[in-house]
Amino acid sequence: MDVAVIGGTGEEGFGLALRLGRAGHRVVIGSRSAEKGAGRASDALKILGGNATVEGTTNEEAAAQAEVVFVTVPFAGQADIYRAIKPAVAPGKVVVDATSPLATAVGGRAWQVLRPWQGSAAEQAKAILQKGVRMVAGFHTIAAEALQDLDKPIESDVLVCGSDPEAKEMAGALIEDIPNLRWVDCGGLDMARISETLTALMIGVNRAYKVHDAGFRIVGRDAWGPPAR
Ligand SMILES: NC(=O)c1ccc[n+]([C@@H]2O[C@H](COP(=O)([O-])OP(=O)(O)OC[C@H]3O[C@@H](n4cnc5c(N)ncnc54)[C@H](OP(=O)(O)O)[C@@H]3O)[C@@H](O)[C@H]2O)c1
Repeated sequence: MDVAVIGGTGEEGFGLALRLGRAGHRVVIGSRSAEKGAGRASDALKILGGNATVEGTTNEEAAAQAEVVFVTVPFAGQADIYRAIKPAVAPGKVVVDATSPLATAVGGRAWQVLRPWQGSAAEQAKAILQKGVRMVAGFHTIAAEALQDLDKPIESDVLVCGSDPEAKEMAGALIEDIPNLRWVDCGGLDMARISETLTALMIGVNRAYKVHDAGFRIVGRDAWGPPAR
C-alpha cells in the first residue's frame, strides 16, 4: 500500500517509516522541507537495503500520494501541519494521527498533557481537515526507540480510536504487518482523549526506570479475534 508519514523525519515517524517500509509498503516521508524528507528517505534505504521503497518530499506531496496518511508531529505544530496538508487529503482518505498533546508544546513537561479545545489532538485534526476524511488515532503507546530498533520485537499494543470501523481495520492491517504488533479497537475518536495521554504516562515510566522503550499491552486480546461491528 502507498503510505505517507507526515513528520517522518522525526523520531516516531522515522521508526514507523522503517517498519512499514520493511513490511513491503511504499512509504513517502513528508517534511516541511523536501530536501530534509529526501535525506531521511535515503537514511531509511541505507538501513533497509535495496528491496524497500522509501521516498521523501514535502508533507503536502506525501499526503497527496498516499492511501493512508500517518501524522507524527509535535502538538505545537500539529494544527499548522494539518492546515498545510488539508487540500491534499481528499474526503474518504484514512489519516492515522499519533500526536500526543504533551505540555512541552507550551514549555511544560513531557510527562504532563494539555487538553485541546476539541477534546483530543485527533479531534482537533479532524476539525481542521475536509469533511469525510476518515480519522483514526493510534501509536501513542509505541515508543520511537522501539520502532527504530528493527532487531527487537515491539512489546506494546497500538490502541486505535476512531468512529469509522473500516478505517480502523485498514490502520489495523498495516499495524499487524509489523511483526509482533497488535491493534486494539478502543472505541470512537473521542477515546483518543484518554489514549493520547498515555504517552505522558509512558514517559513517566521510562523516566522512573531509565529506559526508552516502555509500552502498554491489553491482557486477553489474543483470544478475542477481530472487534465486533
Ligand atoms: N517519540 C516517541 O517515542 C513518541 C511516542 C508516542 C507518541 N509520540 C508522538 O508522536 C509525535 C511525534 O513525536 P516525535 O518524537 O517523532 O517528534 P519530533 O521528532 O520532535 O518531530 C517529528 C517531526 O515533526 C516536525 N516538527 C517538529 N516541530 C514541529 C513544529 N513545531 N511544527 C511543525 N512540525 C514540526 C519535524 O519534521 P520536519 O522538520 O521535517 O518538518 C520533525 O522531524 C508527537 O506528537 C509525540 O507526542 C511520540
